[in-house]
Amino acid sequence: MYRSHSCGELRASDIKKEVTLSGWVQKTRDKGFMIWVDLRDRYGITQLIFDEERTPAPVVKKAKTLGREFVIQVKGSVIERESKNQNIPTGEIEILVNELTILNESIVPPIIIEDQTDDGEDIRMKYRYLDIRRNPVKNSLIFRHQVGMQVRNYLSNEGFIEVETPYLIKSTPEGARDFIVPSRMNEGQFYALPQSPQTFKQLLMVGGMDKYFQIVKCFRDEDLRADRQPEFTQIDCEMAFVEQEDILNIFEGLTRYLLSEIKGVNIGDFPRMTYEEAMRTYGNDKPDIRFGMKFGELNDITQHKEFNVFNTAELVVGIAVPGGASYTRKEIDKLIDWVKRPQVGALGMVYVKCNEDGTYKSSVDKFYDQDDLAKWAEATGAKAGDLICVLSGSTNKVRAQLSALRMELAERLELRNPEEFAPLWVVDFPLLEWDEETERYHAMHHPFTSPKPEDIALLDTKPGDVRANAYDLVLNGNEIGGGSIRIHNKETQALMFNHLGFTPEEARAQFGFLMDAFQYGAPPHGGIAFGFDRLVAILGGQETIRDFIAFPKNNSGRDIMIDAPSNIDNEQLKELNIKLDL
Ligand code: AMO
Repeated sequence: MYRSHSCGELRASDIKKEVTLSGWVQKTRDKGFMIWVDLRDRYGITQLIFDEERTPAPVVKKAKTLGREFVIQVKGSVIERESKNQNIPTGEIEILVNELTILNESIVPPIIIEDQTDDGEDIRMKYRYLDIRRNPVKNSLIFRHQVGMQVRNYLSNEGFIEVETPYLIKSTPEGARDFIVPSRMNEGQFYALPQSPQTFKQLLMVGGMDKYFQIVKCFRDEDLRADRQPEFTQIDCEMAFVEQEDILNIFEGLTRYLLSEIKGVNIGDFPRMTYEEAMRTYGNDKPDIRFGMKFGELNDITQHKEFNVFNTAELVVGIAVPGGASYTRKEIDKLIDWVKRPQVGALGMVYVKCNEDGTYKSSVDKFYDQDDLAKWAEATGAKAGDLICVLSGSTNKVRAQLSALRMELAERLELRNPEEFAPLWVVDFPLLEWDEETERYHAMHHPFTSPKPEDIALLDTKPGDVRANAYDLVLNGNEIGGGSIRIHNKETQALMFNHLGFTPEEARAQFGFLMDAFQYGAPPHGGIAFGFDRLVAILGGQETIRDFIAFPKNNSGRDIMIDAPSNIDNEQLKELNIKLDL
């Protein structure tokens, strides 16, 4: 038996017990006649004491050879500690050791295995197995497990069945590039790893499974950010015989359940906002509604003065920054520099200080009088003491720029409290999105999404105006889930492929299996997928998903611990019939 107890378990009530513990040496203190060792495992830390008077001499001698991260087993008795440590649950006791076995030695670890570490991300990732020994990482993984358990609980109780779908498939278009796997047995042919199990879950509905879910890995070859990994996990769900309202209710229920079980936060009905309204009021389809600073459009009240920048702009829009009137000239200049950075891309920023005495001072006083500026304040909801920041230009660009400024200011003003949770449904997404590069429409969600029946007529005349039965769940400014009601008949699906620029032959070659299935009694169906990593990170009060993934990839898509991706040898290439022409 390696251990009778864990290192986090023993209390004053265990005093006098004979115990066996195993774990890692966190720290040793050698006072000559007395050696203390902090022994660590997943459950906590227990102090060991080796005492010249009470511990056999060979054991004390061996204890003097212990180094950090040695794996040891000790036998001894639980005794009361002289100087108690109130900071840890085992702080009232220690183990007086009489037997010590070194199970494995350790060379000096390259990172500091403590809660706080100064070591950089790269080194921590290279030695991730050591990083996982640190409490913050370990606790994040345990937290992820707990969220997963609650998800399974809720969905199983609601009658959902977890079904596994294949990883070696044919490409599903979800907007990113596929990761490709060569097939040895089928010369010159390739599998793709799923960007999501989208088509399979629809086929499960045709198969009559009715309520499906899966906590599943998805693979997307896209540019990486703090909230994106090339392989990530979805809580993927699909239901038959449902309308949008049914799906929103069930998954609002799931989110509410998780917030209550995991965070002890009770939230009533989630607000809903159309895509159009989200873009107009927050410049963003995933608004953080924990704070205000809503957009005020100023076109009507800024035109016909001598200020040409605004006269010629498609959109003039501002936000009120709480307390911003006290910013110095230098601080405001810095803010202007910030919006002009290439990452944001504004050409400039007009500002208005709303003074405490009710007067206004703006950077465009030459063109606008106090009455004009009072109207701006009204439109942006600015109060005395606030600063109005105004951007102008083409609608989409300006919205994105002002949204970036809004988020940045909220961060600086500490309005993004990670312990506050503000979920929101964004509904009525456009079905199609114009792509400047390829000069054609793309499906905004995916090609299986159903247009709103009342908008189908617009497909031929104004395709960009057609709305979809598609929805996103937003939590604290992050898109944590998205889904739609699907097309379930062959004709509409063919029409959709046609509008997306597929010839009937191309549609047949890529999605023939789905269109065929639709001929055999496909029920009306719809679903949603949550980004599990994102959900866990936000519930854990963070936005970087890497911290909640055991072995994440870095921003270049590399696993620097195992050194992947890597070259493969010629033999393997030959077997796969791949000739590299580098
Ligand atoms: P979608 O593409 O919106 O929908 O993905 C669903 C959710 O997955 C998360 N997500 C990611 N998380 C981490 N890294 C990534 N690279 C990444 N990409 C997406 C997001 C997102 O909201 N098949 C549809 C779902 C459906 O229609 O039912 C789909 O995959 O949180």
